[in-house]
Amino acid sequence: MAIIIGVISQKGGVGKSTISRLIAREFAAQGWHTKIGDLDISQATSFRWRSRRLQSGIEPDIPVEQYGRVDQALKIADQYDILVIDGAPHATQATYQIAKASDLIVIPTGLAVDDLEPGVMLAHELVQSIPRDRIVFALCRVGHSEAEISEGRDYFRQANYHVLEGELPDKTGYRRAFDEGRVATETRYVGLNRKAERLAQSIVDRIAIISSERAA
Ligand SMILES: Nc1ncnc2c1ncn2[C@@H]1O[C@H](COP(=O)(O)OP(=O)(O)OP(=O)(O)O)[C@@H](O)[C@H]1O
Ligand SMILES: [Mg+2]
Repeated sequence: MAIIIGVISQKGGVGKSTISRLIAREFAAQGWHTKIGDLDISQATSFRWRSRRLQSGIEPDIPVEQYGRVDQALKIADQYDILVIDGAPHATQATYQIAKASDLIVIPTGLAVDDLEPGVMLAHELVQSIPRDRIVFALCRVGHSEAEISEGRDYFRQANYHVLEGELPDKTGYRRAFDEGRVATETRYVGLNRKAERLAQSIVDRIAIISSERAA
């Protein structure tokens, strides 16, 4: 049975597809049998991104399949080591189904109050039926201000949620890479790749814990 990572949010456009692809690429590169289940059938962002990746001939290939329902995605979980579920834009019934099925729930978030509050509200709803330690926040599309980043981290900590180390700044260099079918660690800029690697590594570290707990 695959380790399932659900990438969900209350708000649209926060970086779910970006984070899903980053995670999947990291594990695929390490030889894990990896799949992205794209639950956003209206936009099919990750599905279409994979076509661009194939056209650009970028390795490793990252299989992406579209699913209209969460249970359809879960059916294939036993064929993979890692299944990353890229959630639909807004929190729906499917969002809660993804969360229930996930070993790790990643909620990408920006740093404006308009982003922080809905993120925490979603997490508050989830912890009513899901263990708190399965939920992590990933800071995405952040600006240059270290103070703002640090305040954002404090906001989640005070609400008693885990925030992943590392963050993705909002940069044209990332967008250009995504346009070519790359992930945030595969840009033309060493500095941007390093930033993304830090965030990716903190997810890998969480999964290593889950993986060793399973093996025990
Ligand atoms: N760090 C970044 N720097 C620049 N652009 C970014 C960054 N992260 C994401 N983007 C861009 O922001 C937009 C939204 O990102 P993404 O598609 O990952 O969000 P999403 O949460 O999946 O959106 P949706 O809710 O529509 O599914 C995309 O156009 C993406 O290319
Ligand atoms: Mg998306």
